[in-house]
Amino acid sequence: MKTRKIAIIGLGNIGQAVVKNIKKYSSLISRRTSLKIELKKVCDINKRKRKIADKFSIPFTANPLDLIRDPQIDTIVELVGGIEPAYSFVRGALKEKKNVVTANKALLASKGREIFSLARKVNRKVGFEASVCGAIPLIRSVSEGLVGCEVKKLYGILNGTTNYILYQMQKGNIDFNASLAEAQAKGFAEKRPSLDINGIDSLHKLSILSYLCYGVWPNLNKVYTEGISKISLLDIRYSAELNYRIKLLAIAKRNDGLLDLRVHPTLVPAEHPLSQTSSAYNAVYCDTNPAGELLFYGQGAGGPATSSAIISDIVNIASYENGFMRKEEKVSFRNTKDLKMRYYVRFMAQDASGVLAKISKVLASFNISIASVTQKEHKLRKCVPIIMITHEAKEDSIRKALSKIDNFKFIKYPSQVIRIEDL
Ligand code: HSE
Repeated sequence: MKTRKIAIIGLGNIGQAVVKNIKKYSSLISRRTSLKIELKKVCDINKRKRKIADKFSIPFTANPLDLIRDPQIDTIVELVGGIEPAYSFVRGALKEKKNVVTANKALLASKGREIFSLARKVNRKVGFEASVCGAIPLIRSVSEGLVGCEVKKLYGILNGTTNYILYQMQKGNIDFNASLAEAQAKGFAEKRPSLDINGIDSLHKLSILSYLCYGVWPNLNKVYTEGISKISLLDIRYSAELNYRIKLLAIAKRNDGLLDLRVHPTLVPAEHPLSQTSSAYNAVYCDTNPAGELLFYGQGAGGPATSSAIISDIVNIASYENGFMRKEEKVSFRNTKDLKMRYYVRFMAQDASGVLAKISKVLASFNISIASVTQKEHKLRKCVPIIMITHEAKEDSIRKALSKIDNFKFIKYPSQVIRIEDL
């Protein structure tokens, strides 16, 4: 029986769940794979974590170098998170000729190119199944299952925190701040949730998917990224009346030789499975050739669920042909300004005659055609929401038209615009 000698750096929620589930499932894994997993050591800079190691009778250290330099260990599991010191640990482990398993999407999105090139140089593997959508075996499905497929479009709910917040806003009829507070109280959102809320966590995961699907590590600063903090309860309600749901989507599309990558709140038809993705679940919908449409759904976070992805990497890592590596390709990106789609627009305007005519005139001057318009009566009679759905229009024209409209005195708050994907 072959033995995999592993060590874990980082005993947070996921690290602890990995320890527990390796102990729980190692005999099942041995029966299925003839592989024995030996957890040689665990490490955390917080010395109080020693009691977790003691509970499972595993040697503990607070110094990561003890693991990285230990010749008896063949695979390092990095569960520290963030860029540094995680990057130094991963580089150090590869240089010591060890395989690496990581759940660190921020690290891969920023340093993936360097990490994979070093792994190739030292002939070792990097497993990162847990970095995108936690428990969903997405990395393996995209890199192996779809190896002969072209991914034309990919739409992902890649962040559970924001999905939970948007879902609860609708379900509980509460505003963004109340929903965030509830998510934090229930442990779905972190105390400092900005990476999730601002769409950056989704961007990191999209970047990894872009590498797998298109061979491209995008420049993170150049991918259009918008979070959910400006989504109001009004938008949730009115989009539902129009038979849409608002979801934070990470989107990748390739057509006419151009790659379009972006993260933003999106109106999705209510009957589409992505709209049915409730609570903190993740889902990814792809349109591919020749496999057609595919949908992946499951838990994207949480220690126990995510530990399954890490354990599968530990088991399979040595057998990965290329460790999921892709050859990089040269691809040109589509400029967000050149996008053409339908838009949901909400104006908060004074309720006076001529207002609608003036708004329509500006939209027409930018060649934006209105598909539907609704004016809502509102308790604050001086200011009413006007909701429009446009026909397909250019993003650049929408931005220019709204900035002109927002200068009118009768507009009381900045206008809201949300992109629509008619999936
Ligand atoms: N913070 C992430 C989420 C989980 O809310 O989905 C880890 O990737």
